[in-house]
Amino acid sequence: MLTIDYANCTSERVGYHGLDPARLGPGSEAASAAASITATLAKSRGTGWERWRELWNEPMRAEHVSGVNALVKEHSGRFENLVVLGIGGSALGNIALHSALNPPTWNLLPAKHRKGPRLFVLDNVDPDNFRAVMDVCPPKDTLYNVISKSGETAETAAQFMIVRDMLAKAVGKKASEHVVAITDPAKGTMRQICDEAEYATLPVPEGVGGRFSVLSPVGLFSAAMCGIDIEGLLDGAKAMDARCSDPDLTKNPAAMLATLLCELAARKGKTNHVMMPYANSLYLMADWYRQLWAESLGKKTSVDGETVYAGFTPIKALGATDQHSQVQLYREGPNDKVFMFLEVGAFESDVTIPKGLGVENLEYLEGASMTALLNAEKRATEYALVESQRPNMTIHVPRIDAQHVGEFIALWEIATSQAGHMLGVDAYDQPAVETGKKATFGLMGRKGFEGWKGKVEEGLGGTGYVVGE
Ligand code: PA5
Repeated sequence: MLTIDYANCTSERVGYHGLDPARLGPGSEAASAAASITATLAKSRGTGWERWRELWNEPMRAEHVSGVNALVKEHSGRFENLVVLGIGGSALGNIALHSALNPPTWNLLPAKHRKGPRLFVLDNVDPDNFRAVMDVCPPKDTLYNVISKSGETAETAAQFMIVRDMLAKAVGKKASEHVVAITDPAKGTMRQICDEAEYATLPVPEGVGGRFSVLSPVGLFSAAMCGIDIEGLLDGAKAMDARCSDPDLTKNPAAMLATLLCELAARKGKTNHVMMPYANSLYLMADWYRQLWAESLGKKTSVDGETVYAGFTPIKALGATDQHSQVQLYREGPNDKVFMFLEVGAFESDVTIPKGLGVENLEYLEGASMTALLNAEKRATEYALVESQRPNMTIHVPRIDAQHVGEFIALWEIATSQAGHMLGVDAYDQPAVETGKKATFGLMGRKGFEGWKGKVEEGLGGTGYVVGE
């Protein structure tokens, strides 16, 4: 079970820069606000944009798991490569699951030592990156998993158009056997393409937005193809959801997380939130968290129509690596951050540092385990931050397995919905992303968006402020 140790967010540890523990205890304003939000969320769960909270419950769970497993069975052993095409919420969760739960050397392992195909997730239109992956994934040996709820996303659409063309040239009429699409079950451009080409499809369920979709077929299909225990993920999420339904703030991990981060921002100006896993495999989980926290809460306008400029800046760092890169700033730079360490109890393997080097200054390392060293470094950084009065907390992950990763995902999704209420913003829209999308359409000549090209050129017209021209 994941735990959160938040002692270092209190004034007892970090003085002025922490919260008075009485403000979080029974009968406090924060405790009754959290209880009321928990009750509101209990009513709205499963409706509107909060359908994601039913992904680990029946009937959605069985429907998705059986759909995913049927396609995994059909495609397993047939392909050397699985290439995921998607972006944002249609890619970050896939990358995070794979990197958390499979070895970092997965693609380098011989097939007999892998529980599935090599996996490449293409979440950009960088031509060098795209070409490099295409060069090592011949279409005849590759299954393409295109993920787009809308089908309108330019990056994913462009990638898919190239892949379709390549496939048609390489395998002709068998092209459709190389595609599994995940999209809206009923509407949208991708749905139309899938119906016409008779691709195998899985749904992005209605009411499940991109950044809340990792535990839907969006994340589950590529995970299951690569041998990840998807039932374990869903079990973990369900267990965390039960804990996060407790009206008692001190027993509800998501409510406490949201309360700490919102209160430290509002009262102490800590608007930057650094996630620092002490585990390489969880580093890309921090990328998933960054999208969830940034896109959901960064809003100009509240649900009441007031201008609020809400939100926090999520930052990622890796322990112990970034102790040698970022910690100088974190301890002596602006005191405007909260640090969230992810600490692992037991790694899958451990490595013992051998004895016998015979150098006095390094004797302390002899016979120690790498886990002990890594966790000592985390403890030492925690201490150093407390000494500099920098609020921080530790999310303790007993082991990195599907159950605990599922818990972690549900924890942050529910904390995000809690924080949306605390800030008074809609956590499910992303109005500010639209301008960039429309301007791109205009610049690329999409019908109906002609005016945007002029707007962009006028707005960014020659300034003369260019060094080196
Ligand atoms: O969280 C979101 O809603 C976004 O990040 C989307 O997932 C992203 O823009 C991709 O959208 P789509 O799945 O429609 O291609």
